[in-house]
Amino acid sequence: MSAEVRRAAEILQRGGLVGFPTETVYGLGADASSAAAVARLYGAKRRPADHPVIVHFADADTAFEWARDVPPSAKKLVAHFWPGPLTLILRKSPKAGNFVTGGQDTIGLRVPAHPVAQELLRAFGGGIAAPSANRFGQLSPTTAAHVREDLGQDVDLVLDGGPSEVGIESTIVDLSGSEPVLLRPGRISAQALAEILGTKVEEKRADSPRHSGGLERHYAPKTPARLVPPHQLDQEIAQRGAKVAVLAFSRPDERVDYWLRMPRESQGYAQKLYAALRELDGARCESILIEAPPETPEWAGVRDRLTRATT
Ligand code: TXA
Ligand code: MG
Repeated sequence: MSAEVRRAAEILQRGGLVGFPTETVYGLGADASSAAAVARLYGAKRRPADHPVIVHFADADTAFEWARDVPPSAKKLVAHFWPGPLTLILRKSPKAGNFVTGGQDTIGLRVPAHPVAQELLRAFGGGIAAPSANRFGQLSPTTAAHVREDLGQDVDLVLDGGPSEVGIESTIVDLSGSEPVLLRPGRISAQALAEILGTKVEEKRADSPRHSGGLERHYAPKTPARLVPPHQLDQEIAQRGAKVAVLAFSRPDERVDYWLRMPRESQGYAQKLYAALRELDGARCESILIEAPPETPEWAGVRDRLTRATT
């Protein structure tokens, strides 16, 4: 184990905050069994205390100790998708304090695949509460540099594991009720979950206030951003000229000063998405125009984030 990971585990044991890589986005970690550490975490994020946080574990056996009821559907899903970019919502066990569940009777559990996250979780031993390592409502970080820019002195140590491979947050599926419900789409699609479960997975319009990823304007750049259907992009540019920054599939248009071209394939797009939005935000344009991606299922995670990032 690296000396830095050992130091990170010690910081967590003392109630400190550690930024660490996962395959989805960077997390801001705190000891999930310490009310004081989690309170510090919420303070650093400027996040309301009634929002639940995902708790991360090295493996499924340790994770399930925090659930009082592990349905067969949960076991099926984790056999396929853990470690990986999937979060399960289950009924909580007494191990899960109210300070990580936002006072709810359920707990969000995830076993990330990133080797540095795995190393940290093994060194620490327990559960690590970790929301994305950004201030509340801002874009999630996909590099260690993003975490340092966002949180500065409020984080004790940031582990650098390179750019996040998935690029958007984990898929969240709620298994605490009678039917599985998709709360947040991600790289793992509702269809992929349904195939393993052999049942339909209901897609909830994520508008519950208890689920901060479900707030309408979230994952948002500071510059006003608009989603534009491909056939309207030309006309929008004609109206606004050089004052816009554009995120598009097509080649740069010479009327626009700031243009980022994105992959036509959803996984490559997701991987670059947050860094691209940060870059466009930094371009100091009056607005950001984003060419809308296709309406097909593999784009569901990206469309969800773009819808929240735009007005
Ligand atoms: O990919 C990810 O999930 C990243 C990495 C760091 O693991 N984490 C992440 O955490 O995105 P956060 O806190 O930014 O978003 C977690 C979402 C929030 O919208 C939260 O409200 C929801 O999960 N959540 C957590 N526990 C929940 C629960 N018991 N019931 C409903 N929603 C829950
Ligand atoms: Mg977040």
